[in-house]
Amino acid sequence: MQIRQARPHDHARVMAVINEWWGGRPVGAMLPRLFFEHFCDTSFAAERDGALAGFLAGFLSQSRPGEAYIHFVGVHPAVRGAGLGRMLYDAFFAAAAARGATVVRAVTAPVNRGSVEFHRRMGFRLEPGDLEVDGIPVTAGYDGRGNDRVRFVKSLPGPFPDVQ
Ligand SMILES: CC(C)(COP(=O)(O)OP(=O)(O)OC[C@H]1O[C@@H](n2cnc3c(N)ncnc32)[C@H](O)[C@@H]1OP(=O)(O)O)[C@@H](O)C(=O)NCCC(=O)NCCS
Repeated sequence: MQIRQARPHDHARVMAVINEWWGGRPVGAMLPRLFFEHFCDTSFAAERDGALAGFLAGFLSQSRPGEAYIHFVGVHPAVRGAGLGRMLYDAFFAAAAARGATVVRAVTAPVNRGSVEFHRRMGFRLEPGDLEVDGIPVTAGYDGRGNDRVRFVKSLPGPFPDVQ
């Protein structure tokens, strides 16, 4: 498995598989090419034998210095549960920390319980919401009416972690 920075040509490869990887949900329109043009330094593609095995699209916030944001992560269904999602997140955490980020945020749809568990395992905590759905805090209408979201936040270790 090879993880490298994303490139513009990766967008078409991601679009070819994204809805299938999301179990048929039509999510492709939420990941326009601009992420692969303008956020290459903090976005990644994973390949095995030249085939796309996973990807991550993320960036540093312009408006909130020190914050980074993961917009999308996807792993080929055939290789899930083997640590690739964690490897992609670790690559992002390292790239974001190297560029001064100390906080990472992400959101997901409440229906995506696999994503909620994955983010918990990656060390994110769930931010308070205004609804609770099956014990999960949900922010109603976060992305517009009908588009509720679960919001995640995680601190990154600073450049000089405390020695215990
Ligand atoms: C979410 C996703 C990226 C996880 O990728 P992955 O390669 O399977 O994840 P990993 O194998 O690295 O798992 C990392 C940890 O998360 C846990 N985890 C991953 N998916 C999980 C799930 N569906 N349910 C519960 N736990 C899960 C693993 O058990 C593992 O925990 P551990 O390290 O403590 O043992 C992948 O399932 C996926 O592409 N899903 C569809 C797209 C999606 O929903 N993306 C997220 C929203 S943008």
